[in-house]
Amino acid sequence: MNEPIFSTRINYICLTVAIGGLLFGFDTAVISGAIGPIKSQFALDAVQEGWLVSSGLAGCIGGVLVAGVLSNRAGRKRTILLAAAMFFASGIGCAVSGGVTGLIVARVIGGIGVGMASVLSPMLISEFAPASKRGQMVAYYQLAITVGILLAYFSNAFIISWMKEEEVWRPMFGVMAIPSVVFILLLIRVPESPRWLVSVGREEKARQVLERIRPAAQADKELSDIGRAARQSEGKKASLWEGAIRLPLVIGILLAVFQQFSGINAIIYYGPRIFQEAGIGGNNALVFQVIIGSINVLFTIIAIVFSDRYGRKFLLVTGLTGIIFSLIVCGYLFQPGHMQGVVLLVFMLIYIACFAFSLGPVTWIIINEIFPTRVRVQAVSVCTAAVWIAVWLVGQFFPWLLEKAGASFTFWSFAFFSLINFFFSWKVVRETKGKTLEEMETVFIAPH
Ligand code: BGC
Repeated sequence: MNEPIFSTRINYICLTVAIGGLLFGFDTAVISGAIGPIKSQFALDAVQEGWLVSSGLAGCIGGVLVAGVLSNRAGRKRTILLAAAMFFASGIGCAVSGGVTGLIVARVIGGIGVGMASVLSPMLISEFAPASKRGQMVAYYQLAITVGILLAYFSNAFIISWMKEEEVWRPMFGVMAIPSVVFILLLIRVPESPRWLVSVGREEKARQVLERIRPAAQADKELSDIGRAARQSEGKKASLWEGAIRLPLVIGILLAVFQQFSGINAIIYYGPRIFQEAGIGGNNALVFQVIIGSINVLFTIIAIVFSDRYGRKFLLVTGLTGIIFSLIVCGYLFQPGHMQGVVLLVFMLIYIACFAFSLGPVTWIIINEIFPTRVRVQAVSVCTAAVWIAVWLVGQFFPWLLEKAGASFTFWSFAFFSLINFFFSWKVVRETKGKTLEEMETVFIAPH
């Protein structure tokens, strides 16, 4: 059989699994448009509003915690199907809910789906992808997140333009059922992860899967590598406290936290408001959301093309240089007397572009490739939980910091964390491009 067939199959599998990212992006962005109408319909006070917005996040953390146990027992594929079903249930549940409590429950269910998908989608992709294309294929997941965010903006705007009623938030959430169903239907044709199959003793099934997605010789070699790694870890209890796991775990957790402490979600979600407050572009928040969202999508493609060619570290260090520089300039522009709206817009967009080809995709790539199979789900769950806890921390403290310390200090704080990340990525993070998942342990044992 010729190569293009394998390439088409593996692309189908990885692009399908990446749709988990699209639902993640959609779910986290849709609330920004829905919260206004919900607030006015139910006359929410600040506490109820806080509950509604953070209920999704609480669900995410719960989803991350159960993803590991479920996917080790029931398999990666069944667990991701469950996540897709939860997105569906949440979309419909929000759309038909009778009041705030129902909405909160449905948001928690969607959040659990997001949390599970944020562990399983990139991990499953990293387990399917050939080593030489793993960066590219995990970056599909980040691309899907950015497309999901953009779709939520368009869908909210379209719904508002078509239905002026108080209850616009119902279809805003309800439309999520459509991509969820598409996701479920496409997932049916995705096989189970060969690595998980070997880990539960189903080598023959793993061979069949590998033979469908790799040329014969490569499938044989990969199966014997996976089998060898599984035999070496036989009898060893999967533990995150082993010496060999310590460095990758520190790298995964810190990259996760630093990704969020670069301020990405503050800038994506508050950016339009910041522009308006800076007096740019009148009252048109949507235009800014779409500009920011489109740059975020476009520049992710750089990571898809170059993460396997130039490596993860190169993208991280280059992107972080742009991130730090643009954050420092934005902070300076917020100083009294320095404000120039258009220049601010340009530097925020430079920031988004740099994030989109570095911290965005590369954080997810690295987290999902550095752990041995025997502890992968647990370790990836810990790192992904770190992402969500950091999302929550930034969401809690950003408005407060903005109010108490001002925009300059806030942006410079993001620059400071990104500077630490720069040195960390340069000096501590190891290059992992081209290595098979089974070779990864040697990367962390060998001297740097
Ligand atoms: C981050 C999200 C962020 C998104 C923006 C992801 O890598 O984990 O928190 O909203 O990128 O594109």
